[in-house]
Amino acid sequence: MRAIQITRLDGPEAVELVELDEPHDDGKVVIDVHAAGVAFPDALQSRGLYQYKPELPYVPGAEIAGVVRSAPAGAHVVAGDRVAGLTMLFGAMAEVVTLEPERVFALPDAVSFEAGAGILFNDLTVHFALRERGRLRTGETVLVHGAAGGIGTSTLRLAPAFGATRTIAVVSSAEKAQVATAAGATDVVLADGFKDAVKDLTDGRGVDIVVDPVGGDRFTDSLRSLAPGGRLLVVGFTGGEIPTVKVNRLLLNNVDAVGVGWGAWTMTHPGYLAEQWAELEPLLASGAVPAPEPDVYPLERAGEAIASLENRTARGKVVLKVR
Ligand SMILES: NC(=O)c1ccc[n+]([C@@H]2O[C@H](COP(=O)([O-])OP(=O)(O)OC[C@H]3O[C@@H](n4cnc5c(N)ncnc54)[C@H](OP(=O)(O)O)[C@@H]3O)[C@@H](O)[C@H]2O)c1
Repeated sequence: MRAIQITRLDGPEAVELVELDEPHDDGKVVIDVHAAGVAFPDALQSRGLYQYKPELPYVPGAEIAGVVRSAPAGAHVVAGDRVAGLTMLFGAMAEVVTLEPERVFALPDAVSFEAGAGILFNDLTVHFALRERGRLRTGETVLVHGAAGGIGTSTLRLAPAFGATRTIAVVSSAEKAQVATAAGATDVVLADGFKDAVKDLTDGRGVDIVVDPVGGDRFTDSLRSLAPGGRLLVVGFTGGEIPTVKVNRLLLNNVDAVGVGWGAWTMTHPGYLAEQWAELEPLLASGAVPAPEPDVYPLERAGEAIASLENRTARGKVVLKVR
């Protein structure tokens, strides 16, 4: 089978398209992969900078969409089913993958393979962030940083379905503002000076939730942008620097800084992924949550696709077309 492989930790340019043996089924679900998602950890891992470091050589990628070739008896999917699947840390960018049944999810007919490969990693993180950790309530306002990225566009697509009546997208350029608007943002502001723009937009009140996959030096202004009772959801650090927080700010304004570690949560909460999908799947099937509109690259351009997240040129969710 064709697969993308990383043999040395020299970044996205070093990824190679190779021929590998297909995996043995080992009692798992065997899936013919049609598309594979690209996420920020793929870029970090390619330089050995992610918290989880696969042994070399490895096939990158956390998520796929495709068709079940075979499944163990009693599994909730059968041969021929259209599915999305989570490899979670690595292994997705290949023509065939094997997955435990609990990592495989029936894909609604209305969702294409390319869109389906861009759903699980970000949408389930954002679902966990907004519902479980952020306690999003009907009528609240959600601000999201890096709004034209994977987590960003996912937040803009999901938040209204979970009750947000306003979403404020923070982006670094006018071009990315268009991506955020297309993903459903109510308002878009530039990262530079976002605090004052948010103050104006909310008549000085601030927002109820900040979804922050960026971190860095905007963290304090994010805390200052929260309304009383607001929650700042710490999702990631694409900006590079891990911010520190003076906790008197939390006390003075009655706000929370909340960690969002979705992967770790799924490890300690068996059945949680299935619960999440049971809530999300009907919303995707009905169109209440629109499917992502990914930026699609062919498998052989995987290096370029991964690099687009690192060099900040990615527009929305990035996906590889595998077959
Ligand atoms: N906590 C969890 O459970 C969990 C799960 C999944 C992902 N994550 C994390 O979430 C973060 C976002 O992932 P993603 O897949 O959404 O990434 P992405 O698609 O690349 O989007 C990240 C956004 O960050 C912004 N950014 C600001 N400074 C940047 C810089 N120096 N380099 C690159 N981007 C920069 C960019 O927007 P602008 O250019 O508009 O600023 C970009 O659109 C990552 O840190 C990832 O590890 C966490």
